[in-house]
Amino acid sequence: MPRPTIIDCDPGTDDALALWLALASPELDVRLVTVVGGNVGLDRTLANARAIVGLTGRDVPVVAGADRALMAPFADAAYVHGDNGLGGLILPDGPAAAPGLAVDALRAALRAAAPGSVTLVGLGPATNLGLLLAIEPDLAGKLAEIVLMTGALAEGNVTASAEFNAWNDPEGLAIVLACGAPVTLATLDLTNQALCTPPHVAALRAAGQGACATAAAAIWDSVPPSRRAGGMGHEQHDACAIMWLVAPDLFTGRPVHASVDLGPGPGRGRTVIDRWGRSGRPHNAIFLETLDPEGFFDVLIRRVASLP
Ligand code: BDR
Ligand code: CA
Repeated sequence: MPRPTIIDCDPGTDDALALWLALASPELDVRLVTVVGGNVGLDRTLANARAIVGLTGRDVPVVAGADRALMAPFADAAYVHGDNGLGGLILPDGPAAAPGLAVDALRAALRAAAPGSVTLVGLGPATNLGLLLAIEPDLAGKLAEIVLMTGALAEGNVTASAEFNAWNDPEGLAIVLACGAPVTLATLDLTNQALCTPPHVAALRAAGQGACATAAAAIWDSVPPSRRAGGMGHEQHDACAIMWLVAPDLFTGRPVHASVDLGPGPGRGRTVIDRWGRSGRPHNAIFLETLDPEGFFDVLIRRVASLP
């Protein structure tokens, strides 16, 4: 049975690939896409999410959410994703956004769901998810799993300490980590292993000539090579969270206690991942440690190439 799945995102070049992977995957029944400001402003992330879903021809509601973090001014990552969030690629406009606010759509979907039945994926700052679990914490009981692309065990990618999504809304993330539902973390330490290089772009172009594959290859071409990866390519952060649900055999991981630094100093947004139980605090997350890069890109390329 496909998993009932809700995706919260901030597209974003790598969010686009993640959404296409999810929508191409029979393992997932994507029922709702909610959008948050992050990589670029909410006006753009919403338009991008509508266009990305629209290009697949799938009828999945897309709903607008928060345009800034719970307790911090808005900050973007246009220096990676381009001013329009898709590396300058212009996609055809997608279907209109569904009415209402993300937090209301999430609440309605979870209230109607059976206990432990819905998988929630967070690919952006955790503002919408934090708001939801702050106003109705019992809805955590409706979740089978929360999978987040967020955080880092080692260095960050926006500050020396912090990864972009965690740094953007640490208070939102803290609420999600404490909610009691099983959480799985795809941190930078994992996503660094999903390095997209020019041969992957060529393989995608060879595998599919549909509108989604063509757009995905253009997006891959647009992303500046990562300094942290020595300029060899760029990381497919968000698709790692979806891939965990689609092909878990590609991953290894371990249970940990995870928390996030809420202080005002240089450590703000740093995730503290206790792999060895040194804090004595109970496990609240699975920390994904390794992925098989060949298997990852094989599945990602085949699935995106199968879309219209
Ligand atoms: C995360 O931040 C965003 O820029 C990406 O879309 C990804 O979700 C990586 O740090
Ligand atoms: Ca993202």
